[in-house]
Amino acid sequence: MEFSQMAPQELQALYEVLTKKYQQFKAQGLRLNMSRGKPSGEQLDLCRCVNQTLTDFICENGEDVRNYSSLAGIPEARRLFSEIFGVAETQVLAAGSSSLNLMYDTVCRAFVHGVLPGSGPWHQQGKIKFLCPVPGYDRHFAITESFGIEMITVPMLDDGPDMERVEELAAKDDLIKGIWCVPIYSNPDGITYSDQVVRRIAAMPAAAQDFRVFWDMAYCVHHLDRHDRDYLLNIYDECVKCGHQDRPYLFASTSKVTMAGSGISAMAMSPANFAWTLEQLSVQTICHDNVNQLRHLRLLPNLAAVEDIMDKHAVLLRPKFQVVLDALENEISPYGIGHWHKPKGGYFISVFTENGCAKRVVSLCHEAGVELTPAGATYPYGNDPADSNIRLAPTYASLADLAAAMELFCLAIKLAAIEKILGLETSPDVL
Ligand SMILES: Cc1ncc(COP(=O)(O)O)c(C=O)c1O
Repeated sequence: MEFSQMAPQELQALYEVLTKKYQQFKAQGLRLNMSRGKPSGEQLDLCRCVNQTLTDFICENGEDVRNYSSLAGIPEARRLFSEIFGVAETQVLAAGSSSLNLMYDTVCRAFVHGVLPGSGPWHQQGKIKFLCPVPGYDRHFAITESFGIEMITVPMLDDGPDMERVEELAAKDDLIKGIWCVPIYSNPDGITYSDQVVRRIAAMPAAAQDFRVFWDMAYCVHHLDRHDRDYLLNIYDECVKCGHQDRPYLFASTSKVTMAGSGISAMAMSPANFAWTLEQLSVQTICHDNVNQLRHLRLLPNLAAVEDIMDKHAVLLRPKFQVVLDALENEISPYGIGHWHKPKGGYFISVFTENGCAKRVVSLCHEAGVELTPAGATYPYGNDPADSNIRLAPTYASLADLAAAMELFCLAIKLAAIEKILGLETSPDVL
């Protein structure tokens, strides 16, 4: 029965039972971490042989990658990412291990130098702003916050950001310079933008002529089942059709394909953006780690090879997502105290508790030994105004640990919901 239908005495009695269970959990001394989306050791082992792939160091264009070599990345890496992005090889930069680093540098360059020659540095244009679909990725928000860029939240709907709101804001304010998007299997909801949303982002008028879409395709090949997967429309093609080819910057990496700390990142953009980016990058570095690019490309020479290794990741990840979803379905759904999206890929499940309960749930879990992403982290400035969203990261823990952590998590959601409904002070028996 839904908690909202239960009499206060019934809820009070249930609260006492749940409190006892919670105390038992605390006594177990669990030490589990579900806070960050990291691949597990078994996933990392899937690319163990990447270290044995190099019998020589010569890449396709004849360069010895041990030496200073192509700034834009080795040709085979640029080709692989051109397949992934659906953008010409000549417009792809293959770089170091972190796409987040590319995003940071892209914001930084725009801030200091402007997005294209003559467009004017962002820092000289007043208090500039970014649109931030929420819930979203905390590290995106940390980048914009670190530059003092004001973040304006836009709600995520089932098919992407609320486009009425995005269009309205972008059209009227020339200080709005960009939008953060994780368009496929979003962090944290696992939502994929519909074709219509992608078309609207490409087509919408923006008051700022130097408006940019930061299109973070971190999970573009990360399907839980390639036969039942989401598809994302090509933003670059759509932007070209609308005469907005300079609008999108596309990002991706192999962080969750091969090794999170030692993969390859990449970025795709229009020819004008590419030329300007390379010009500035040439001041920053001579080349990236092209030895790493080559050893990766010998292992994963094309998209088909990437899809094969992603199938192996999916075999490991499906049961973990299932454990989380089953626990929520069995322990939360019947009581009407939370909702979530069931993702077909990516790294997260994002749970909306009753308003005002997320911080309490995270702290209950923390006290009993399970670390979750801090409540609020999925919103700019760490501020979830409804105090409702919690991001779960099921990939790293073992299945057994995950099951224990989910039992505790569901218990904490129930305790927090009853406390809220009954207006209980935080019970000393519980915390
Ligand atoms: C949406 C999103 N983008 C980027 C990253 C980090 O990517 P990279 O390892 O390529 O820096 C993550 C990691 O969790 C992520 O969730």
